[in-house]
Amino acid sequence: MTSMYTINYALRAHKRDPFIEFIKGMLMTPFVLHAKPIPQTDDPTEKDEEYHMDANVARYCDILSSIEELINEHIRKQAKGVPDQSRLKRLVPSISTFHTQLPLRESFLSANAKHSIAARRFVPPSFNDIRRILNTAQITAIAPKLKLITFDGDMTLYDDGQDFEHDSALVNLLVSLLKYNLIVCVVTAAGYPGDALRYEQRLSGLLKGFENARLSKNMCEKFFVLGGECNYLFQCKEDYHLKYLPETKYQPQNILSWSSDQINAILDVAQENLQRCIDEMKLQCTVLRKSKAVGIVPKPNVKIFREQLDECVLSTQHRIVNYLNSPWGKKNDLPFCAFNGGSDVWVDIGNKLIGVQILQQFLGATPGETLHVGDQFLSTGNDFATRHQCCTLWIVNPDETQGVLLELTALLEAKKSERSLLTLLDHSKILLDSQTI
Ligand code: IMP
Ligand code: MG
Repeated sequence: MTSMYTINYALRAHKRDPFIEFIKGMLMTPFVLHAKPIPQTDDPTEKDEEYHMDANVARYCDILSSIEELINEHIRKQAKGVPDQSRLKRLVPSISTFHTQLPLRESFLSANAKHSIAARRFVPPSFNDIRRILNTAQITAIAPKLKLITFDGDMTLYDDGQDFEHDSALVNLLVSLLKYNLIVCVVTAAGYPGDALRYEQRLSGLLKGFENARLSKNMCEKFFVLGGECNYLFQCKEDYHLKYLPETKYQPQNILSWSSDQINAILDVAQENLQRCIDEMKLQCTVLRKSKAVGIVPKPNVKIFREQLDECVLSTQHRIVNYLNSPWGKKNDLPFCAFNGGSDVWVDIGNKLIGVQILQQFLGATPGETLHVGDQFLSTGNDFATRHQCCTLWIVNPDETQGVLLELTALLEAKKSERSLLTLLDHSKILLDSQTI
């Protein structure tokens, strides 16, 4: 029998992250049973605030250490090719691949030192607390081996539909990443086929920042933009302009063989469904069709509600999947991405999983050496797909991107100093050895 809970959960699945919900549920027990309100009394014998505080920290830490162990077991099963047999898979059936371990306990202690999460008596650890703890844990785990860092565009580097600001605090942070020898790439859904100027316009603040910092040719060439999810690749050149790279240079044969008939067949089905949504919900929208995408964008000064955007996404996803499974749709079975962009809805041919995969192959980085930073990690978002292919940070706006990059650059700096110290020690050893000889 299907319970009301199951029905509610299934209908709201696109608004939930099952792993974060799982952690939240685990932390709820000590919160309910042990995080008692501090007695409002003048009697000194009843004032055991210190005790409650420390006990609560210890309980949260215990739980997070146990979840770390569940992740470690899942990683061991992944390595043996049987991830479905892990305990975590049984507890959170939608769990995906872990590309690194996650020091959750350590990360919680650092968040607690800043935000006193365990001191709260009326508000339990929230979705956002846990999302941020996961981010810090991921940054700590990947910093020593990071090679490729990819960023979503809208809402991650700049506000929705805006351009990269000239005075954005992110300019210096992205310049630092390049100076730490990382490959940096913007992986965005925004698709302007082969049009370097259009991307330059959206990233003008950043490119100007590269010029002001007088980045060397070598550093400039470590900056890429991949537009249309996985379809149009550009590289920054020493003149601080973007250069379009022909698809044949980096795309694997299976992607090069996507035909325009296949692409158009999927986009026709998507467009028909989007138009049906517009008519049925009386949305004030315009339909935009491109060579590898179709979208609906609100008319000027119109806001479409999140529920309506989600309805468009879920019904279009459903419609396309049904079509591709039908006898007449099978021959057009290409990967696609239907997503809620915050104020609009798009269906793109290809997705960011393929985008990250292409970059990893082209630039030589493994999933455990790649980090994607984005804002759309619900199942109706377009950053979600990257999870299978690399480590991820889920941020909600450019300010949070700044926060995670400050954490990351502090660790990269520590790693650099450690390396310089080791080199210095090596030199002194060689010097001492040569003197002994
Ligand atoms: P992202 O967050 O950087 O992946 O960019 C997503 C946003 O890009 C969407 O919400 C749209 O507003 C915008 N966009 C512009 N052109 C396209 C396109 O061809 N496909 C998908 N999104 C597009
Ligand atoms: Mg975005």
